[in-house]
Amino acid sequence: MKYGYFDDLAKEYVVTTPLTPLPWINYLGNKDFFGLISHTAGGYCFCRDARLQRLTRFRYNNVPADGGGRCYYIKEKGKPAWSPAFLPCKTPLDAYVCRHGLGYSVFAGMRDGLAGELTCFVPLDDHCEIHRLSLSNQTESEKTLKLFSMIEWCLWDAVDDSQNFQRNLNIGEVEVEDNTIYHKTEYRERRNHYAFYGVNRPISGFDTSRDAFLGPYRGFDNPLAVDREQSRQSIAHGWYPIGSHQIDIVLAPGETTTIIYVLGYAQNESDDKWTAHDVINKTKAKAVLAKYESEESAEQALDRLKSYWTELLSKYQVKSSNEKIDRMVNIWNQYQCMVTFNLSRSASYFESGIGRGMGFRDSCQDLLGFVHLIPERARERILDLASIQFEDGSTYHQYQPLTKQGNHAIGSGFNDDPLWLIACTAAYIRETGDKSILFEEVPFDHKPGSEAPLFEHLRRSITYTENNRGPHGLPLIGRADWNDCLNLNCFSSEPGESFQTTSNFDSKIAESVFIAGMYVKYAAEYAELCERFGDAAEGKAMRQRAHSMEKIICEHGWDGAWFLRAYDAFGNRVGSQTCTEGQIYIEPQAMCVMAGVGLENGFAEKALNSVHEKLVTDFGVELLAPPYTAYRQELGEITSYPPGYKENGSIFCHNNPWFSIAETKRGRGNEAFAIYRNICPAYTEEKSDIHGTEPYVYSQTIGGRSGHSFGEAKNSWLTGTAAWSFVNISQAILGIMPDYDGLRIAPCLPDELSSYRVERVYRGCRYRITVERTNRSKPEIEVNGNLIEGNLIPAQTSATCDVRVRL
Ligand code: GLC
Ligand code: GLC
Repeated sequence: MKYGYFDDLAKEYVVTTPLTPLPWINYLGNKDFFGLISHTAGGYCFCRDARLQRLTRFRYNNVPADGGGRCYYIKEKGKPAWSPAFLPCKTPLDAYVCRHGLGYSVFAGMRDGLAGELTCFVPLDDHCEIHRLSLSNQTESEKTLKLFSMIEWCLWDAVDDSQNFQRNLNIGEVEVEDNTIYHKTEYRERRNHYAFYGVNRPISGFDTSRDAFLGPYRGFDNPLAVDREQSRQSIAHGWYPIGSHQIDIVLAPGETTTIIYVLGYAQNESDDKWTAHDVINKTKAKAVLAKYESEESAEQALDRLKSYWTELLSKYQVKSSNEKIDRMVNIWNQYQCMVTFNLSRSASYFESGIGRGMGFRDSCQDLLGFVHLIPERARERILDLASIQFEDGSTYHQYQPLTKQGNHAIGSGFNDDPLWLIACTAAYIRETGDKSILFEEVPFDHKPGSEAPLFEHLRRSITYTENNRGPHGLPLIGRADWNDCLNLNCFSSEPGESFQTTSNFDSKIAESVFIAGMYVKYAAEYAELCERFGDAAEGKAMRQRAHSMEKIICEHGWDGAWFLRAYDAFGNRVGSQTCTEGQIYIEPQAMCVMAGVGLENGFAEKALNSVHEKLVTDFGVELLAPPYTAYRQELGEITSYPPGYKENGSIFCHNNPWFSIAETKRGRGNEAFAIYRNICPAYTEEKSDIHGTEPYVYSQTIGGRSGHSFGEAKNSWLTGTAAWSFVNISQAILGIMPDYDGLRIAPCLPDELSSYRVERVYRGCRYRITVERTNRSKPEIEVNGNLIEGNLIPAQTSATCDVRVRL
C-alpha cells in the first residue's frame, strides 16, 4: 500500500495523507543552516550544529512524534482553527498534500473553501528558513480570518535545553520590534548570536510567552490565543519563549494573499552586539528580512534553489527503460547522499541531533556517494577528518561539527576507522585528478606542529592495521569494527553501561576478518596511490603485504563454505558453522569479495552462494543468521538486540550494496540487481504499509525474518546505505567508474536492462554515454566516433564527449 506517489518531473514525492505510518521527513538547507521537516511541517532547525546551535525546540518521545515545528493556525469566526499542514491543529481537512522536493516542502491544505499553501525552504545563501503562506478564498463570499504563526525557541544547546530546567526556566529573553520577534537568550552574556522570526506585513498582535499563548492545560493543537482570536502581546521573561504573530485578513471571493515569514539566525561581532543597553544590534537580521520582504524575492530564492539542484544532479543522469532506476539515480539517491554528507549520523527523526556528531567512519563512506557532486567540499571534509587522526594512525570516532575537534563521547578504538580514510581520499582523486590533496599538510589531533602530508596520514592508517594484529596475523578488532555492536573486548554486565565506551578486557586477541578484507582492498588502493603519486617501491611492497593478508584470510579466516567473521577474546570462532548461533555474517563475505579475496580459489563463489542460501530475503540481505537468542557478554551489544533487529540479524541495509557489488565482481548482473532492488526505496514504495519509513530514501535497518516485524524499516535517512547504493548502481551496475586517468566503463547488467544513456560530468567534461546490449563476446567502445582499445576513456579536455558502448 502507498501513501503518495513520485512526481519525477517536479523531483518531488507527494504525500497524499497526513496519516502515514511514521513522520515522513525532508531536509531543508545544504550547508550551514538546516531544517528537518516532516510531512506535517513538524521538526526543528539549527545553524551548523544540531546540538549546540538549535533554533527551535523538538520534544523527544513526543506524541505525535512530529509535533511542534512550524505552526500555522487559520481561524475563521465560529469555526475550528485548522492548519494547512494538518498539524498542529489536526482539524480534518477537505484536501491535503505534502510535496517533499529537493530542499523544500510544500503543504497544501484546504477547508471550507479556503486553500492554504505553505512552502518552506532554506535559501541558498542565507541562514534562515522561509515560510511562504498563500491563502486563497475559493468561495463566492468574503472571508474574514485571523492567522496565527507559532514557533517555539530552543535555548540553543539542545541537551541543556531538555534537562537543565533549574537554570533554563530563568534565562529566556526576547525582544519584539516591528513585525519581528527576536530570541536572545544568553545573548546578554557569552553568546553573540540571536534568532529572529519576522513577517512581511503589519501584525495585529504577537506572543512570545508560550504559556500566555497556549493558556493553562492546553496543547499546541488548541491555543487559547487562537481560540479567542486574539494574541496576548506577551513578553517572555524566562519560562518558555516562543514567537507568534497575529495577522488579520479579509479575502474577497477568489482573492489570494501571500505572506512571507522568515525564521533566521544571525551573529554579531563581540564588540558590536548592542545598539543600547540590552537592545540587540539587529542590522544583520534586518538585512535578511528586507531581502525576502517581497513575494518576488522569495519566489526567486526558491527558483534559484531548484536550479541549483537541477544543475547539481546533472552530474549524473541516467535514462533507461526502468523509471525506478532513473528516479533513484537521478533524484533521490543523490539527494540522500548530500544529506548524509552534511549531517553524517547527527540529526534525523531517529538520530536525535544531541547524540552523535560527525562520525569518522561514516563520513569517510558518505563521501563515496557525494564526491562527484561538490568535489571541493569533499576535499575540505577529507582534511577535517584527517585532522582528528592520532599519530599512531588510529582516530577519534567522531567530531562536533561546530568545533571540528574530535571527542571520545561515543567511544574510541574502532579498528576499522583508519582504513576508511584511504577509501575516500582515493575516491576523491579518481573523481578530480587532484593529487595535490595528498601533499596537504594536516595535523594529528589538531596539534599545532604535528602537521604531515595527507599521504603520511594514509600511511599511518595502513601501518596502524599492520601494527595491531592478533594471534593469527589478522587485524585486531579493538572496540569493534564496522559492526559497532560486535564488542569482543567489552564484557559488560552492568545495566545501562555503554557498549561504546566500556572497556574492561583488552584481550589483544580478538581479531576481525572483516578488517582483514578491508585491509586487502585499501592496501591495494594505497599501493596504487604510491605507484602513481609517491614511492613506487613502497607501492610494490604494499601489494606484497596485501597479498600476505589475503593468504592469512584464506588460511585462518575461512570456515569451509564462507568467511569467518572474527575470533573472540578467547580465540573462539565467530560466524562459523561450529557456532550454535550467528553462524554466518554478511560483512566479511561482501568485503572480502569486494577486495578480490578468493576470486581465484573458489572461496568467493562459495561465500556468495552461502549468503544467497542463508541470508537473502525479499526485503534484503540479513546481517547474520541465525540471530542470537540470548545475551552473550563475550560478543557484546550485538546480542543485546532481540533476534531480527538491528545488528542482530536485521536487514542492515548498509552492507547490501557491498554484497551487490561483490556479485558484480563475479559478473552476476541479475543477482546484483536483485539485491539492489530489494532494498531500493522506489521498489519498496508499494509496501509502505509494511516498510513504514519514507519511500524515497534508504533506511538503516529493516526487520529480519526471525523478528516480530519482518520488513519493517527504521532509522531512515542517515545511513551509509545511501552512498554505497549510489556507488553500486552508478559504478558497479551501470558501470561508469571514475578512475585516475579517466572514466572506466564496465557495466554489469541485469537482463531486464538492454540499453540506457548516461550523462556524466567528470573533470569538467560532459560525457554522453549510450550503452546497448548487443551480445558480443567483447565490449566495443567508441569515443567521439573512434573505437578505443580497452574500457578506459581518457579524461577529456573538451566540453562534451560522446561515447557509445556495445556490450
Ligand atoms: C551505524 C553506524 C555505523 C556502523 C553501523 C553498523 O549505522 O553509524 O558507523 O557501521 O551502525 O554498526
Ligand atoms: C548502537 C547501534 C549502532 C550504532 C551505534 C553507535 O550500537 O546499534 O548501529 O552504530 O549505536 O552509536
